[in-house]
Amino acid sequence: MTPTYTCFKKLITFLIISQSSKQVHSSVRAVAPQSIYLCAVIPACVIKLSLDPVEERIVELSKSLSSYVIDIRRNIHAHPELRFEEYRTSKLVEDELRKLGFEVYRAADTGVIGVLKSGEGRVVALRADMDALPVQEENDVPYKSKVPGKMHACGHDAHVAMLLGAARVLSAMREKLVGTVKLVFQPAEEGGAGAKKIVEEGAIDGVNAIFGLHVWSELPSGVIATRKGPANASSTSILIKIKGLGGHAAHPELTRDPTVPAADIYNAIQKIVSRNIDAFTPLVVSTPRFEASRAGNVIPDAVEIYGTIRAFDMSVRDRVLERIEKVVKHYSAAWDCEGSVEVIGTPYPPVVNTPELAEFALAIAGKLGPVSEAPMSMGAEDFSFYLQKVPGAFIILGVKNESKGVIYPHHHPKFDVDEEVLWKGTALHTLLAYNYLVKKSV
Ligand code: NI
Repeated sequence: MTPTYTCFKKLITFLIISQSSKQVHSSVRAVAPQSIYLCAVIPACVIKLSLDPVEERIVELSKSLSSYVIDIRRNIHAHPELRFEEYRTSKLVEDELRKLGFEVYRAADTGVIGVLKSGEGRVVALRADMDALPVQEENDVPYKSKVPGKMHACGHDAHVAMLLGAARVLSAMREKLVGTVKLVFQPAEEGGAGAKKIVEEGAIDGVNAIFGLHVWSELPSGVIATRKGPANASSTSILIKIKGLGGHAAHPELTRDPTVPAADIYNAIQKIVSRNIDAFTPLVVSTPRFEASRAGNVIPDAVEIYGTIRAFDMSVRDRVLERIEKVVKHYSAAWDCEGSVEVIGTPYPPVVNTPELAEFALAIAGKLGPVSEAPMSMGAEDFSFYLQKVPGAFIILGVKNESKGVIYPHHHPKFDVDEEVLWKGTALHTLLAYNYLVKKSV
């Protein structure tokens, strides 16, 4: 390990400790530039953290592109498209990249890959997801969704905008790069496993490292975070079916009422977490969708329960699935019903960041302002499919700003982002690419 890197490690450790003791946000954000703050705290790290002339130019350009990034974000926000329907968004991306001199091709139907090559060297990929959600927007803003029932309620509009901003900066400093930057504008993160398709089509073959950036509603505006190793849980969707025989609710003795075992199964599933898995293993099993009769006097023929299993360890996921199958089968049989369990959709593996690259990303982020260790999340991300193939790190950028009323969680009808910090996403993407390709500090 080089002295520079040890220095970064100390700094990151310090920042993480500060963050966890709630000292960072108000004190750090009041001081600019960040290097001055760091200078005051850890003098030995000042030089290492200060920006070189190219990095200064990257930050300057990113800040100057703030209104461009916000305009793009608002444009996409007003025209949300669901998974694998990102036709307008991908056309916009493609047009912008072509204007900037990127080689452009399609992947995973509505995905766009932009390639910028500048001599022989390493290949770094930067990823943004593009899809919206089936949510009716409740924000009263000029850029409100124009499509009923669809909304960018997870911030993927901002991801596209920040990465297009980075495309502009990278294009402007192309002669300073040594190697190749691959921009991955991916469809269908929300349940469509778009990343899996991108990987299967070979679009990231030959990539040496990949970074993904997600705006984060639980993190104060401008704070950048990631973590080494496991970051996001795996996700497996299940459908439980209990078949019986319906009839009049006044005569249950003439039916094989599936609601009876269904209720027992619903409760028994919760016991798996406490009875079958050790207390130190993160695990969530939720079954929030329960479909039975539509009338109070009708016993249905069948009950369907939809749920999700979240775990970091896939063998734990397998054990839970096995136990659910037993519970469903035997509880159903006890009441002369037939029970079955199936996995629906594509399970997402856990996001496991490459430790060196997470550390590298945090050190680079430290040049832009406060950083923090991201908490582990039971929320899933299909960025995991890239990480199964290529080393990389998934990074989050805080966009919560209480003074602006930007406080709602992801997937909420009033979700929004603090647009003033989006330039940081543009700068971070570009700094990661520059440092990875040219400075090769990792
Ligand atoms: Ni998202």
